[in-house]
Amino acid sequence: MSMSPFYVTTPIYYVNAEPHLGTAYTTIAADAIARYRRMTGRDVLFLTGLDEHGQKIAQAAEEHGVSPQEWVDSIAPKFAEVWEMLGISNDDFIRTTEERHKRGVQAFWQKLHDDGWLYQGHYEGWYCVPDETYWTDEQLEDGMCPQCGREVQHIREDNWFFKLSEFGDRLLEFYAANPGFVQPETRRNEVVSFVTGGLKDLSISRTTFSWGVPIPFAEGHVTYVWIDALLNYITALGYGSDDPADAARFARYWPADYHFVGKDIIRFHCVIWPAMLMAAGIEPPKSVFAHGFLLTKGEKMSKSKGNAQTPASLVERFGVDAYRYYFLRDVQFGQDGSISMESMIQRYNGDLANDWGNLCSRLFNMTEKYLSGAAPAAPADAAGTAEDATLRAIAGSLPEAYEERMSRLDYAGALEAAWELIKYANRYIENSAPWTLAKEGDDARLAVVLYHALEAVRIAALFTAPVMPATSAEVWRRLGLGDIAQVTDILAAAEWGGLPAGSVVTKGESLFPRIYDEE
Ligand code: MSP
Repeated sequence: MSMSPFYVTTPIYYVNAEPHLGTAYTTIAADAIARYRRMTGRDVLFLTGLDEHGQKIAQAAEEHGVSPQEWVDSIAPKFAEVWEMLGISNDDFIRTTEERHKRGVQAFWQKLHDDGWLYQGHYEGWYCVPDETYWTDEQLEDGMCPQCGREVQHIREDNWFFKLSEFGDRLLEFYAANPGFVQPETRRNEVVSFVTGGLKDLSISRTTFSWGVPIPFAEGHVTYVWIDALLNYITALGYGSDDPADAARFARYWPADYHFVGKDIIRFHCVIWPAMLMAAGIEPPKSVFAHGFLLTKGEKMSKSKGNAQTPASLVERFGVDAYRYYFLRDVQFGQDGSISMESMIQRYNGDLANDWGNLCSRLFNMTEKYLSGAAPAAPADAAGTAEDATLRAIAGSLPEAYEERMSRLDYAGALEAAWELIKYANRYIENSAPWTLAKEGDDARLAVVLYHALEAVRIAALFTAPVMPATSAEVWRRLGLGDIAQVTDILAAAEWGGLPAGSVVTKGESLFPRIYDEE
């Protein structure tokens, strides 16, 4: 089993407000792949964090009558709380106001300066504070930010510039040589055509406010917040530190396997970021995956539109695993997805209460009732009936189907593969009618049927664990098995026959009690 490293990141979130469903979405998706890769034996580093500098944060602080540092310190714990509530298993959490980050940003500045990639110039143009993005006259739409439709500010400043315009050809060559760098394909086309259109040098310092990382060689200049933010992916690994342990960490995990981002921020991640890294002589990440937006009633959900819901309100009603399941199952990762209370209730009652929850509860119940809660031994006649064989075959093909889909971050497809097993196991119980076998005193066949169904549940719990970790842990406990979180070889664990004879099976409470639509 290889322990090769796997480094996955989320964007670092602005701390102008508390996390909402949109920001939680990226984090849950990254968490699911991080958990799955740990189960396949990879040495995972899963990073998330907070983007704490810039004008937008300084403004939020001012509106609340506190200093920027006080403001970010008051919001940061709220993110940590929500991630904990959502079962996020990040290995590190970076805040851009941390010393390790500032040191790295300054080291990066110095490197680019020494290597001649920077120059002083004058910027005049537009700036969207909510998006922290520069725009030209031509880019504005009706005088507003073309991205978010809000007002823009006119700015004139002496800034430091990065020679981004010199990287066009290198970037195009890089995209051609690394077709998996921008995913999905549609985003890749968008990035390629943007770069083909020609790149302008980028203003990367600001002088009209001070809430940022100071530029080491330019008094009064702070780092443009996007440059500051992108660097988190390497400062968290110890870039810019003299400590050999940091150097080893950097060498081990960089380049990142995946940066997860929303489709609104791909130019930063797929154009500016690789160019910055190339300038510093650092390899670009292996892949940037851009997901779509969560839409409610056809509109992007966002704080500014006032249609953002808090994760807590949904977790309270549905539970954390159902929450995680819904977003990864109902929305195709990479595309926009409409979410609604109706579809969430439908998924919950259908897939979770009827299929998965019901399978577990009826089976554990019967094991208690007919076998005094002791798991039966594997049947002596290994072949059994045609239905036994079908159930084993579906369980046997699940690991490969699941891996194939997860390797493309097709969460919905991966869950569907797990559901084939869950659905067939329900049908298998229906058709085998253990209750009749018990009544007729056919103990031998009864044991075979329950054994098969229990094995199917044990294996289904493994492959639903990355998305629904708490439920899978509970299912394994009820099967009398060890801690599912300790599984680091999912292939070996998923082999048929892993349930020891005599394992103590307990029925417990309903895993997903049905929910009734209050409206
Ligand atoms: N701070 C920058 C990222 C810097 S990364 C070096 C930022 N932060 S953000 O908090 O505004 O947004 C973070 C992520 O949340 C983005 O990837 C964005 O696409 C995502 N989402 C925000 N609203 C969303 C939806 N309604 N739906 C899905 N994701 C959305 O940008």
